[in-house]
Amino acid sequence: MSKPLEGIKIIDFTHVQAGPACTQLLAWFGADVIKVERPGSGDVTRNQLRDIPEADALYFTMLNSNKRSLTLDTKTQEGKEVLEKLVRESDVLVENFAPGALDRMGFTWERLNELNPKLIVASVKGFSDGHHYEDLKVYENVAQCAGGAASTTGFWDGPPTVSAAALGDSNTGMHLAIGILTALIGRGQTGRGQKVAVSMQDSVINLCRVKLRDQQRLDRVGFLEEYPQYPHGEFSDVVPRGGNAGGGGQPGWVLKCKGWETDPNAYIYFTIQGHAWEPICRALGKPEWISDPNYATAQARQPHIFDIFKTIEEWLADKTKFEAVDILRKFDIPCAPVLSMKEIANDPSLRASGTIVEVPHKERGSYLTVGSPIKFSGLKPEITGSPLLGEHTEEILAELGYSKDQIGKLHTAKAI
Ligand code: COA
Repeated sequence: MSKPLEGIKIIDFTHVQAGPACTQLLAWFGADVIKVERPGSGDVTRNQLRDIPEADALYFTMLNSNKRSLTLDTKTQEGKEVLEKLVRESDVLVENFAPGALDRMGFTWERLNELNPKLIVASVKGFSDGHHYEDLKVYENVAQCAGGAASTTGFWDGPPTVSAAALGDSNTGMHLAIGILTALIGRGQTGRGQKVAVSMQDSVINLCRVKLRDQQRLDRVGFLEEYPQYPHGEFSDVVPRGGNAGGGGQPGWVLKCKGWETDPNAYIYFTIQGHAWEPICRALGKPEWISDPNYATAQARQPHIFDIFKTIEEWLADKTKFEAVDILRKFDIPCAPVLSMKEIANDPSLRASGTIVEVPHKERGSYLTVGSPIKFSGLKPEITGSPLLGEHTEEILAELGYSKDQIGKLHTAKAI
């Protein structure tokens, strides 16, 4: 099966998570992604949080599948010449170095554009160009705080809290991938490349737009009726942390199920969708609530929503999270078990769909990774293991026209 991005050559000058997540996605869909890494060390994540001594860490393997690895010291004259050759032959260069690092290396946008006017140069930075923090180095949690997510996550009586989901890193990589694909289509129209930039702060803000919605509602009316603070608690002038409240118009909460005393994940998320109220009452054995004016409408329920959740927890007390969902799904109630990572790793549906895949690795043996979350009717991405450091250096240099002798000289100059 041919892949839509076949023939697109990408210089993958990325490291850690945000950039690698972007280029990995493009590699799954057929792009030839050449990961350029510093000789001897490579991407820092190869060594971070290793679980097997002397083998690439999962942090690296899970973000760099389907790529080739070229070691190249782009600060040496010889290394710069190789990179220039590569730039002339490539469609996209992706990087997420600290601000200014690529320029210091001598590869400014102007220089890259001069070398190859068709090249798309895609960058991730912590903050956007011209931002008063544009010089900052940024990691995941820094972005979650700067993007408004942390101030609105967690419980009202605790500190701002970051999410386990990589809103700053992988999310930014996904935004960048959309930018690159857009620029590729644009190039088809104009024949020219362009600069594509995504900041981690902006990508987090893009996912926090409902909280900006809430800020404006709060400014206007002074309260947010779907938050636990309503109607008994106090609101200040900023969007509060709402615990596990539903973010839309449907109240919801994480509720205890059988075994919660010993199992930290024996919970379900339960949503009280307005039109499902009647089936909820029937499921709970509370048919009298259907017409009770204190319960019949969403507005009437809100002042005692936590008493309702308590009643639902009493109903859940003798049911596991899976049993509960199996009953509730029949009543069309939006709900799900709180799944642990262990349960996700072994979930047969996720294995069957290719969302969780096991891939071979030359040194590690096989490892689990997250496959493509995007499903196509005409493409089934095949996830392959990540490359060893420099595994494809000679192959890529030979493709660029370097002879064995010239490759030997690059070795001697410590450029590869
Ligand atoms: N050959 C020669 N030098 C190389 C090289 C190569 N193949 N690859 C990288 N380098 C150099 C860079 O040019 C830079 O040199 P300089 O500081 O002398 O200009 C140096 O390695 C370090 O790069 P840097 O990006 O500053 O790494 P860091 O470990 O200090 O910072 C981050 C890491 C992630 C904080 C930083 O890169 C950053 O803020 N990136 C943008 C936001 C981002 O993507 N964050 C991470 C999300 S997962």
